[in-house]
Amino acid sequence: MSSESPAWQVDIDAAATAALAAVTEATDLAALREVEVAALGRKGSVTALMKRVGTLAKTERRAYGAAAGSLRQQVTAAIETQRDQIRAAAIAAELDDDTFDETLPGLNPARGHVHPLSRVRLELEEVFTSMGFSVLDYPEVESEFDNFEALNIPGWHPARDMQDTFWLKSGHLLRTHTSAGQVRAMHQFKPPFRAIFPGKVYRYESTDASHDHTFHQLEGLMIGRHVSVGHLLDSMRTLLSAIFKRDVQVRLRPGYFPFVEPGFELDISCQVCGGDGCSVCKQSGWVELLPCGLVHPNVLRAGGLDPDEWQGWAFGLGLSRLVMMRYGVSDIRLLLGGDARFVEGFHAGA
Ligand code: DAH
Repeated sequence: MSSESPAWQVDIDAAATAALAAVTEATDLAALREVEVAALGRKGSVTALMKRVGTLAKTERRAYGAAAGSLRQQVTAAIETQRDQIRAAAIAAELDDDTFDETLPGLNPARGHVHPLSRVRLELEEVFTSMGFSVLDYPEVESEFDNFEALNIPGWHPARDMQDTFWLKSGHLLRTHTSAGQVRAMHQFKPPFRAIFPGKVYRYESTDASHDHTFHQLEGLMIGRHVSVGHLLDSMRTLLSAIFKRDVQVRLRPGYFPFVEPGFELDISCQVCGGDGCSVCKQSGWVELLPCGLVHPNVLRAGGLDPDEWQGWAFGLGLSRLVMMRYGVSDIRLLLGGDARFVEGFHAGA
């Protein structure tokens, strides 16, 4: 070392020598990790040197910082190299071992698969996002306001009785439908906007093959300046054709829901017989798929929108039902029953 070297250079050099020697001496991963902590850890020797910069005179700080930084880099690189070497040596030792037979078949880990509910949901999300819809996620524990009142269903309304509800002690509830997100979305986004919100919903039901206390829906909402029933019908036809990957005929029948006016039940041409009539469509050629309608002015108001300026359509797709129709599942309780054999059944690219 030249005589002009600053005083601290001795400490840096000593730390480098000690740390690099310790690295070379560490011959297994655990020992190397200890060396790493002792040098680079929060209380490590190199870390302590890095911290010392604050105690030096201003004129020395730049040179000291560079030296300490390069020490740190050097030690880090040495540890990485040593770690690679230890790993390579372990593999070489295993290969050298006469009892190791590399022709034996490897372990075959069990493969998981996507649940049919998730699969259909993901497919729908793809179709909708390609058409400019956002995918939103809203809470399952809701306020009474968002689940009912904002949707034009005050406490006295008989429609409340149609949705038996799990109440929490706090006065909140488990949402009975994904429609609870409608007013939340109106507050969240500046119109015009279009969005879907899929998710779990809950009803206080006695369960049977077609009722469960927990099931899945997918809500759609479009807010714009000029939204009509024709527009709703056309959008639905396009969407459903994309979903079923063929031309789907749709028809509307009147249906009552307090949060839409007019409200409809949307039927699609039977995908089993193509509309000729079969047992699935009870010989009618049509299958009931989803309720929908034009958003009620009171709901727009609850969402902070002026009904003279903004209109909207909404639909509530029974995701669980769609999955059952698509895969021929005859009991809704199988969907969330937690029996792995059920999901296994969809393994073969179903
Ligand atoms: N939320 C309703 C239910 O679960 C379904 C529904 C009907 C949703 C009409 C809508 C709609 O968006 O427009 O029974």
